[in-house]
Amino acid sequence: MCGIVGAVAQSNVVPILLEGLRRLEYRGYDSAGLVVVHDGKLERIRSTGRVVELTGKSTNTQGLIGIAHTRWATHGIPSERNAHPHISKNQIAVVHNGIIENYEELRSLLAANGYEFTSDTDTEVIGHLIHSHYVQGKKLLEATQAALAELVGAYAIGVIAADDPDRLVCARRGSPLLLGVGDSGLFIASDVSALLPVTRQVVYLEEGDVVELGRSGYRIYDAAGKKVDRVVQTSELSNESVQLGEYRHYMQKEIHEQPQALANTLESVCNSQSLVPGIFGAEAAATFADIDSILILACGTSFHAGLVARFWLEEIAGVRCNVEVASEYRYRTSVPNPKSLVVVISQSGETADTQAALNHAKLLGHSHTLAICNVPESALVRLCKLRMLTRAGPEIGVASTKAFTTQLAALFLLTLVLAKQRGRLTEQQELQHLNELRHLPSATQMVLELEPQIAVLAEKFANKQHALFLGRGLHYPIALEGALKLKEISYIHAEAYPAGELKHGPLALVDQYMPVISVAPNDALLEKLKSNLQEVRARGGELYVFADANTHIREVDGVHIMQMPEHAGYLSPILHTIPLQLLAYYVALQKGTDVDKPRNLAKSVTVE
Ligand code: AGP
Repeated sequence: MCGIVGAVAQSNVVPILLEGLRRLEYRGYDSAGLVVVHDGKLERIRSTGRVVELTGKSTNTQGLIGIAHTRWATHGIPSERNAHPHISKNQIAVVHNGIIENYEELRSLLAANGYEFTSDTDTEVIGHLIHSHYVQGKKLLEATQAALAELVGAYAIGVIAADDPDRLVCARRGSPLLLGVGDSGLFIASDVSALLPVTRQVVYLEEGDVVELGRSGYRIYDAAGKKVDRVVQTSELSNESVQLGEYRHYMQKEIHEQPQALANTLESVCNSQSLVPGIFGAEAAATFADIDSILILACGTSFHAGLVARFWLEEIAGVRCNVEVASEYRYRTSVPNPKSLVVVISQSGETADTQAALNHAKLLGHSHTLAICNVPESALVRLCKLRMLTRAGPEIGVASTKAFTTQLAALFLLTLVLAKQRGRLTEQQELQHLNELRHLPSATQMVLELEPQIAVLAEKFANKQHALFLGRGLHYPIALEGALKLKEISYIHAEAYPAGELKHGPLALVDQYMPVISVAPNDALLEKLKSNLQEVRARGGELYVFADANTHIREVDGVHIMQMPEHAGYLSPILHTIPLQLLAYYVALQKGTDVDKPRNLAKSVTVE
């Protein structure tokens, strides 16, 4: 979603702002803009195209202070007039990520006081509100604090003033923002990747923080307005990890990074001979001993990881498990169980619905909380008592790939730890699971070798309008994930069903134009699945089957088989995900869509 970059530096900030925006492109956006102070005036450039177009328009722009933004439209269509920064009375400029809920009411009040609105955004009220306090003689910091006190909603903002070229004010509540402390200046950004060319020294701001950045340093004030110190941390994010390298798209790169991402996530466990609860945090052993069930809350792909985990947790660990879409859970009346462990799963750790669902669960009395997350300093990690970090490295492509498989690895570890603690795992079983986990990165590598075959297969999908994905049991969530990947990046309408549900409705859709993709592991449900596939063939449906070794599903007319190298037992969902990721990727290439930045979508969904 929206990305923010800001700088107060000793040299022209425009190249820093543009490079920062370029690095935030992956978050998803539809317009971009920047503003600097030059000769006591605000100079603004905006564009509805890509950052590269903004760069083209900026050749004559320069300043020692500025703020910049990539916008993902919420209020108002993507257009230049709605693009940020927004300017109030040529004096105050603001960029914003989030949603202001009381903007209509504020807009009426401000309009009645003579403020003119030139956009449809909720953001414009912020600039005018700050201005209304600024003209009463308040300094930029105080005027911003006064304006923030009137806002209801979520925000990360950056603010500058035409007549104060040495000061940038920023604030966050509900949307991510961090501070960069460099040798050549001070910076703000939505995430650290934007600042890597200028600094690795960062301060992760807390909820409600307001910061004043000047030429001689910065001051942070907490939500109560008290001056506070926050730790300056050195980001370990490497510059290479956010570069494309030899790959054509980030999605392709990230699919290929899965063996390493899994190895990194499992590192501490695979180097030891036994599993300990401590991998989830110091209080994990006591917490796990006190729980009688699990409630998983997540969105999108992370929700699918939760659905797989439910099978593991109930079957292996014997722990009752519920999985809920976070955006639904937060608004429904549920029966809380304080003995339940609330597990939030998220790549970004900033997903607004997942955060709200966690807060809702806490308000209902849930105190046992665990975050499974890929971003160590994210809001969800900070909000939970326990944590397990997936070590997938930065995921730039909007379609989640390596984050998903590493989430599964982390959830499998949770299952094993709980199973062990409940006496459901013999020493021998534990060792066997550890061996299988050690083998997982190389098993993943073998599946990646199917890439050339899948690229050929994808040609058959280029003209399709619809696709049906089938799976059973543990692999039904993988069918869901395959369908999500395909629709997300190729815009082909795809649906997933548990194969046994076919005859209860979706079979009506099957004819020679409907490709049916099936996940066929060599497990206890294989024979049932084969019968379901016959039902499809009998109706003329074209089958694409991702089958484990020894499934004895034969390649005949209308049945295309992709042979998976082996059957990985409980870990099979991790391996079966990979060909479906590759299929979606190569179909998208066939269709010529924007693989890494699919239309209408954002990487981190930081608004509701
Ligand atoms: C998946 O490919 C998505 N783009 C999306 O569904 C994503 O998984 C969802 O928005 C949740 O994000 P999170 O894991 O960062 O919380």
